[in-house]
Amino acid sequence: MTGKEAIALVDTVLRSANSGQGLNDIQSVVFLETWAGRSYTEIAKQLGYQHDYVKQVGSQLWRSLSQLFGEPVSKRNIQAVLRRYQQSQQSQQDWGEAIDVSRFYDRKEERRSLESWILEDRCRWIGIFGLGGIGKTALSVKIAQEVHSQFEFVIWRSLQQAPPLNVLIREILPILTEETETRDSSINSFMTQLRVKRCLLVLDNVESILQGGNRSGQYQCGYEDYCCLFERIADEPHQSCLVITGREKPGGFTVREGKNSRVRSLTLKGLSGADGEQILIDKGVDAASSQLRKIVNYFGGNPLALKIAATTIQTLFGGNIQAFLAQGTTVFSDLWDLLEQQFERLSPLQQQIMYWLAINREGVTPAKLQEVILPKVSGRELFEALESLHTRSLVETGNGNLTLQPVIMEYVTQRFIKLIEQEITCEMAAVQLPDFFQKSGSFFALKNLSFSTCDSLHF
Ligand SMILES: Nc1ncnc2c1ncn2[C@@H]1O[C@H](COP(=O)(O)OP(=O)(O)OP(=O)(O)O)[C@@H](O)[C@H]1O
Ligand SMILES: [Mg+2]
Repeated sequence: MTGKEAIALVDTVLRSANSGQGLNDIQSVVFLETWAGRSYTEIAKQLGYQHDYVKQVGSQLWRSLSQLFGEPVSKRNIQAVLRRYQQSQQSQQDWGEAIDVSRFYDRKEERRSLESWILEDRCRWIGIFGLGGIGKTALSVKIAQEVHSQFEFVIWRSLQQAPPLNVLIREILPILTEETETRDSSINSFMTQLRVKRCLLVLDNVESILQGGNRSGQYQCGYEDYCCLFERIADEPHQSCLVITGREKPGGFTVREGKNSRVRSLTLKGLSGADGEQILIDKGVDAASSQLRKIVNYFGGNPLALKIAATTIQTLFGGNIQAFLAQGTTVFSDLWDLLEQQFERLSPLQQQIMYWLAINREGVTPAKLQEVILPKVSGRELFEALESLHTRSLVETGNGNLTLQPVIMEYVTQRFIKLIEQEITCEMAAVQLPDFFQKSGSFFALKNLSFSTCDSLHF
C-alpha cells in the first residue's frame, strides 16, 4: 500500500465514522511523513513547527485511529493494521461488461458529490443521467471502483439487452447469497439481501427498459416490476446503494429527490475544456490549445463526440482542425448513429419541436414556441414534450430560453434537409404552415437550398 492509498483509506474510514469529517491538513501531512518513516523531529524541522506540536497532532491521530480500528494503533504498526483492515473489508466484485476506465479525466466535482452521497449520506438510490456519449457509463465504473472497499459486494450490470427482472435477480442473487444458483427471483428475497449486506449495485442503460416517445420515464410493457424494485430500494430502509445510469430518468423519482433525501440524481454535462482537450490529444490530434478548445466547445465537451471528431479530423482532414471547423458539417457516422437512435425514440410532437429549434437557430422561450410555432398544441402537451426532451438532454435551457447543443442542432438540421429532399409529407403538416414556410425559407436561403425544393413539398 502506498502512502497515498493509505491516507485515502484512513480518510474514508474516518469520514464514515465521523459524519463526514476526515483528516485535516496537518494530520494528513503528519500521517504521510510518518508513513514515509520520518520522525516527529524531522517532520517538525521540515514544516517549521514546534516538535511538541507535531507530537501532539500525531498522538491524537493514533488515539482516534485506535478507536476506529478497535486496536492500539501507533506509527510502528499502522501499516499492518491497515493491511489487516483492508483484507477484512475485501469486497466481492462482479463487474459484468464494465468498460475500462484507466484513462479517465477529471470529473472531480461529480466524483466528489457521488462519493459523499454514497458514503456519507448513505443514499439508497442514485441516478446519473445525460446525453448519449457524455460519459455516464465511464463515470459509473469509475465511482464504483473508488468506493468499492466500503461495500461487501459490488455488482455492475448493463440493462442494454433489457433482461427481464426475474432473469437479472436470478443472476445477481446467488452472488449475494454465495450460493451456486437459485430458482428464487422474488423482489422480497433481493431486498432481504440488500438489508443484511452492504451492496453497491450499478445498473447501466436504464433507458433500455423505458418507453420512448411522450411516455418517457415510463416502463416498457413487461418491465413494470423494475419500477417496483427501484421504488422499494429508494423507499425502504436497508444498507445498500443502487446507482442507475441512463439517457432518461424513470418516472416517480424527481419527487423523491432532495438534499435531505436518500434519493439523488446527477445530470452529467460535458467535460471541462482542459479535459476535453486531453481526449483530443490522446487520440493524436496535434494543435494549439485554442484550436482544440474550439472543438471541445463545439461538441459541448461530449467525450464520445470528441473521440469521433478526433478520428474524423485525422482520417478526413489530415489532422487539419481549421479545415475540419471550416467544413461545418461535423456530424459523422458514429455520432450520427447515436443521435439518430435518440431521435427515433421521440414522439412526432417532440420531433417537431426539435426541428423548429434547429430551424430557429436561436433560443426561444416556451411561450414563444407555443405562440409562434405550435399554436395548435395545448400548453400541457407542449410542456410534457419539452420536459421529456429536457430529461433526455436533447434540449437545454438557459436564461429561460430553449436551445439545442450545437452538435444536436447540426444533426437535426441535416435530418431536416434529408426529410425535405425526400419530399416526405412530414408531421409539420399538423402545424401552422405559413410560419413554417417563412422560417424554413430563411433557413434554406441560409443553407443555399432553393426555395423551389420547399414549394414542391406535398403537405
Ligand atoms: N471522463 C472521461 N475521461 C476519458 N474518457 C471518457 C470520460 N468519460 C467518458 N469517456 C469516454 O467517452 C466515451 C463515451 O462514454 P460513455 O460510454 O461512458 O458514455 P455514456 O454516457 O454511457 O453513453 P451512452 O448513453 O451511449 O451509454 C467512452 O469511450 C468513454 O470511455
Ligand atoms: Mg453508457
